Amino acid sequence: MNEATRPRAFSGIQPSGALHLGNYLGAIRNWVRMQATTDGVYCIVDLHALSVPQPPGTIRQATIDLAADLLAIGIDPEESILFVQSQVPEHTELAWHLQCVAAFGELRRMTQFKDKSERADFVSAGLFTYPTLQAADIALYDTDVVPVGDDQRQHVEFTRDIVTRFNNRFGDVLVVPEHRIPTAGDRIMDLQAPESKMSKSTDSPQGIVYLTDPPADIEKKLKRAVTDNDAEVAFDPTGKPGVSNLLTILAVATDSDPDTVAKGYSQYGPLKTDAAEALIEMLRPFQERRAELDEPTTIELLHAGADKARERATVVMDRVRAAVNLLA
Ligand code: TRP
Repeated sequence: MNEATRPRAFSGIQPSGALHLGNYLGAIRNWVRMQATTDGVYCIVDLHALSVPQPPGTIRQATIDLAADLLAIGIDPEESILFVQSQVPEHTELAWHLQCVAAFGELRRMTQFKDKSERADFVSAGLFTYPTLQAADIALYDTDVVPVGDDQRQHVEFTRDIVTRFNNRFGDVLVVPEHRIPTAGDRIMDLQAPESKMSKSTDSPQGIVYLTDPPADIEKKLKRAVTDNDAEVAFDPTGKPGVSNLLTILAVATDSDPDTVAKGYSQYGPLKTDAAEALIEMLRPFQERRAELDEPTTIELLHAGADKARERATVVMDRVRAAVNLLA
């Protein structure tokens, strides 16, 4: 399939910490696989990260580190476009146009905004308009499919609504995208609190496996993973979340399924040891490539990615300006 006939995929990730197993198995593994069948555009959304206060002077390094992680894990800059949102100014420009067709009420109803604003003592206007910037990201590349986790369902629905509304008002200008939720390995749980998803927003560093963790740390984290009191190995995510999480991890790392894996164990100890070993093996090629990637190379690849992204973004933005009847 050539570029013209492959469906266009777009996804984004915030530069707010190193990649962990939850990110990788939840979404990014899917991006890597989709490269064979889609024309992929992958974006480090640094402007979205600014919607909540960032520790001063950290975002640049976080952006570079995340890019290196993504390259090492298999996002191939020959195959896909990998770039940083703030290097393509058309994102904020299109976001403005979408803000002008978005309703205050529909933005106020977004669950992510409600959750985040309830917990924060400062709520920025950027946090409120966040979904319009996300819609702009997607629409700027004539995106057909958006591979993201289930937690982004409402944002993709919002994008579809608002792009459709824009088209109704100004003509057939933007492509209406579809959501694509990855099928397997979607939910990896926190090792210390297996009722919640492994996520950088939790405060249990021991519960998160980073892709760059040295083998000894991975072993330690898995050995200390919370299980439960009855010592039976079975896959039952609601009744036995901790053990089920270990089974899922071992299954993904060995290309099996959790029920089959469970049959091979009667005790937690060996399950933990084997899960750690399989994970270490799975991450080895990534860690080797990651160690070889230096910063200047990563930055250079990002600049080249931004040039390619911008070429496409300007075409769409010209269409938008003309449709809105702005003085060219
Ligand atoms: N909101 C997404 C998240 O928190 C990140 C994101 C920004 C995104 N723009 C996007 C995802 C466009 C998909 C498409 O995960």
